[in-house]
Amino acid sequence: MRWFAGLETIVSENERLAPHTSFRLGGPARWLVRPENETQLSTVLSRARNAGLCVRMLGRGANLLIRDHGVDAVVVQLSAPYWRHVEFSDDTVLARAGANVPGLVVQAVRRGLTGLERMAGIPGSVGGCVRMNAGGRAGCMADIVRRVRVMNPDGGVVELNRDEIDFDYRTARLGDRLVLSAALAVEPDDPTDTRQRCLDIWDFKRRTQPLGSNSAGCIFKNPPGKSAGQLIDAAGLKGERVGGAAVSDRHANFIVADHGATADDVLRLIERVQHRVHDMYAVDLGLEVELW
Ligand code: EPU
Repeated sequence: MRWFAGLETIVSENERLAPHTSFRLGGPARWLVRPENETQLSTVLSRARNAGLCVRMLGRGANLLIRDHGVDAVVVQLSAPYWRHVEFSDDTVLARAGANVPGLVVQAVRRGLTGLERMAGIPGSVGGCVRMNAGGRAGCMADIVRRVRVMNPDGGVVELNRDEIDFDYRTARLGDRLVLSAALAVEPDDPTDTRQRCLDIWDFKRRTQPLGSNSAGCIFKNPPGKSAGQLIDAAGLKGERVGGAAVSDRHANFIVADHGATADDVLRLIERVQHRVHDMYAVDLGLEVELW
């Protein structure tokens, strides 16, 4: 604890990370730190930098695979009440990084605001969703971000406008800058229509994805012009299994972790899928999930 003297109330050592991920897999974090505000966050970053420690941001762990041996790093989680604060106006939702995106979608719909429903059914924090430009067929974060406040590794805070952010497919290219909050564009609309659009997206996901199982959503990025799920399915890999990890029967771009699965099972299955799809279709599938 010597690096974090005086911060003991917000630091835990060797805490298991599996319960903080939707895969429910992975080993412990050497340090798990939950700063209560921006000042504490900047203190944690400066202590880590002085000690030469690697820093990783944990959102809601919905797009993350953590190796079984865990992470030798300072894992920061913005879960304290300060980070979940949200403000609604007629044209903007101002949400701090730890706010829960599915919760925002529901609140926006209740207030008769349209815009956020494209994110319906996407589990994640505002910070994680901005960073990864999370989305699906209904749209992605890049469609609705107006501004993002970020903290640089030296603790300095900068506000970036939409046109200063280099959004691309599943990335915002923010490097080592941490998302503090985001201003998201909304506008008033007929609540019945907005609600119906959400229900349609939820319904589509429920029909096509294994939502009740432990997974991290889609494992691979869609290769340009192609669908990873379709390729894996056509390669005959639905139901393929390594230990407790299996390619979902419902959507082939999902790997589900059954009781007793390890992260290593998932990693070996990922490699098997990549080899098979490469051998059959000469396509390299890149990871969509983050791997620690
Ligand atoms: N398909 C198959 N077999 C399968 C799965 C899909 O043939 O097992 C076919 C479908 O029939 C469809 C095509 O592949 O013709 C594309 O499938 P889908 O519409 O399910 O979309 P996707 O590209 O596989 C994307 C996002 C999902 C998001 C959905 C719906 C990526 C990698 N995935 O999936 O995002 O939920 O659209 O909006 O961009 C995630 O990011 O974790 C994720 C699940």
